[in-house]
Amino acid sequence: MSIIYNEKERIFKLDTSGASYIMGIEEKLGHLVHIYYGKKLRGMGSPVPLPVINPVNKLWFMDGNPMEYPAKGCGDFRQHCIEIETKEGYTALEPVYVSHSIYEGKPKLKGLPATFAKDDECSTLEIVLYDKPSKVEVVLLYSVFDKLDVITRSVRVNNKGTDAVYLKKVLSACLDMANQDYEMITLSGAWGRERDIVRRKITRGRNGVYSERGVSGHQENPFMAIVTPETTQSVGEVYAMNFVYSGNHEAVCELTNSNMVRMVMGINPYKFSWKLEKDGEFTAPEVVMVHSSEGLGGMTRTFHDLYRKHLIRGKYCNIKRPVLINNWEATYFNFDTEKLLDIARQASKVGIEMLVVDDGWFGNRYDDNRALGDWFVNEDKIKGGLQYLVSEVNKLGMKFGMWFEPEMVCPDSELFRAHPDWAFSIPGRNAAFQRNQMVLDITRKEVRDYIVESMSKVLKSGNVEYIKWDMNRALTDVASTELPCDRQGEIYHRYVLGVYELQDRITTEFPHILLENCSSGGGRYDPGMLYYSPQIWCSDNAEAIDRLTIQEGTALVYPLSTMGAHVTDCPNHCVGRITPFETRGIVALAGTFGYELDVTKISEEERNMIPHQIAMYHKYNDIVREGDYYRLASYSENGVYDSYMVVSKDKSEALVTYVSVRTVAGYPDPVIKLAGLVEDKIYHVDVLDRDVPGDVLMNYGLPVLHEHGDYKARLYYLKSN
Ligand code: DGJ
Repeated sequence: MSIIYNEKERIFKLDTSGASYIMGIEEKLGHLVHIYYGKKLRGMGSPVPLPVINPVNKLWFMDGNPMEYPAKGCGDFRQHCIEIETKEGYTALEPVYVSHSIYEGKPKLKGLPATFAKDDECSTLEIVLYDKPSKVEVVLLYSVFDKLDVITRSVRVNNKGTDAVYLKKVLSACLDMANQDYEMITLSGAWGRERDIVRRKITRGRNGVYSERGVSGHQENPFMAIVTPETTQSVGEVYAMNFVYSGNHEAVCELTNSNMVRMVMGINPYKFSWKLEKDGEFTAPEVVMVHSSEGLGGMTRTFHDLYRKHLIRGKYCNIKRPVLINNWEATYFNFDTEKLLDIARQASKVGIEMLVVDDGWFGNRYDDNRALGDWFVNEDKIKGGLQYLVSEVNKLGMKFGMWFEPEMVCPDSELFRAHPDWAFSIPGRNAAFQRNQMVLDITRKEVRDYIVESMSKVLKSGNVEYIKWDMNRALTDVASTELPCDRQGEIYHRYVLGVYELQDRITTEFPHILLENCSSGGGRYDPGMLYYSPQIWCSDNAEAIDRLTIQEGTALVYPLSTMGAHVTDCPNHCVGRITPFETRGIVALAGTFGYELDVTKISEEERNMIPHQIAMYHKYNDIVREGDYYRLASYSENGVYDSYMVVSKDKSEALVTYVSVRTVAGYPDPVIKLAGLVEDKIYHVDVLDRDVPGDVLMNYGLPVLHEHGDYKARLYYLKSN
């Protein structure tokens, strides 16, 4: 069992594969204090004596000690995790230890996505805390993975009293540590340049990232790591948190007056309030905590392993996905059955395996101003109907997939005309539009039922094997006609629960369908969505050079198998850059791989390269999807070239990608030190046609063939003999 309770010392010790996490119960009042998190410690005790409260100086204790789950109002003035309001308006809370239980396995979180594990892979500790005056019970959940350096956390709050209580804030995890000159890493971005790796010193006060947009957002991913200053890809101590949630989030790292660092993560308290009636219960979503003593690379590989084995579900998680061609950048809204079939015919000739019809196949959707919500086929465009189109595509030996944006409605739609109250809006206030669309109030059951029923009808009318689930605007004018005034603060969270329910219903009813999430590119790329879909469209910016940075940031946490990546046309529609077709293919091979261009219009020369690219996909995708990822060089740091590699789990094969972004006069050809190989294995390097020992490749390096000219890329395949 990886969790023990030492009764004599009143401490809990949680052991992951590489770390120990220790907390203890203060003897006078029963506060749960944090003691240690870091490299694994032997023994069953605490490295230091537990602090004890001196009742005449309680504030010193409350505001100075590392706490496990700090509340507000009783002396801890730092960033806190939980806040309530009673019917009298009282807000102080001081939950203290009551009991605990330890068991094998991991519980599900009702209505929420969460990591899962078998009983022999994970153990769970539940600690019950109680605040007597408010009669609020707080249960802290810790699940410890035996073979990974992972602890997951969640919190349940129960109202044990008779009067309703309002939960005003409930974060999912807290980590208090003495500062070691820590730096903070976040994934911050924008539309078209999602998940830039941002590293900064933690300065005095509150440092952090958040979303108040109703979705996890392009701007700040629900991820934060604190690292020791020497941290690189291979050295340094890393403490990371990632929130399994797709709505408003907050991650704060506070450097306090006593040089302590407190890191917290959870649902953003902005416009959050949850009414707990007598016996009411609220479950806060899961935070995944990953520790690494081997730098960022160690953290990355742990996240990848955890998510591939213990988060993503469905039959596609561990298998090769069909190579798709999406018509969005090829046609935008201007298509009909004949155009789609032209694309499909040409695509099938070069080996593409699935046609995806993007936005524009439904209702009155001739541009992006109308028809969202009208999920029935536009037979002026799709002449002959969906069944005809799908069967023609199937006859070519290809699968068929289609786009939906289920959470939205346009004012110019049959749905809105029938149910104007189904969209979020505040009486007397002009609702804010984006792309002329409004957000459906999916906190309402009848709205969710309409979405599922209308989608199901379409999905059943043809052999649809893939869905792209898009979401193209943030939430505003958040108000629901169905909820009373004192529950309006529940809407943001209920909205996210609604998204989860919708995706759960669709994937349960159509388990054979491959679901790809999307949100104006990668605006909702988080572990919550990965629970329902094995892949997410990474960014609307599919330009190969920009994608190096976007995919580097994404892959810091999320497996390569989840990154929707396509070869698109040039000049690139997003940034206008022109890059070789070959380079675009090599960069897209780091993700799910597909095409998003008019294959009937590109040059013969480019079209002829597609069969070779698809052959590479089939040859290398097992390694890319399942292997260990190592970041070797970063173009965003060196300004010249980019390189990463993936090593198969048995270390017999590896694939190295090298992209020369800029030719610099007088710059020596790079020799790139590889990683993750077996020192005394001999690897055949295909491009060099040489057998090279693993220790040479990792210590001397791989001399890459630097070609003259910008944006050239090359793959090196290594196989041990
Ligand atoms: C935004 C997505 O990111 C694009 O790929 C495309 O599906 C458009 N929406 C369609 O409206």
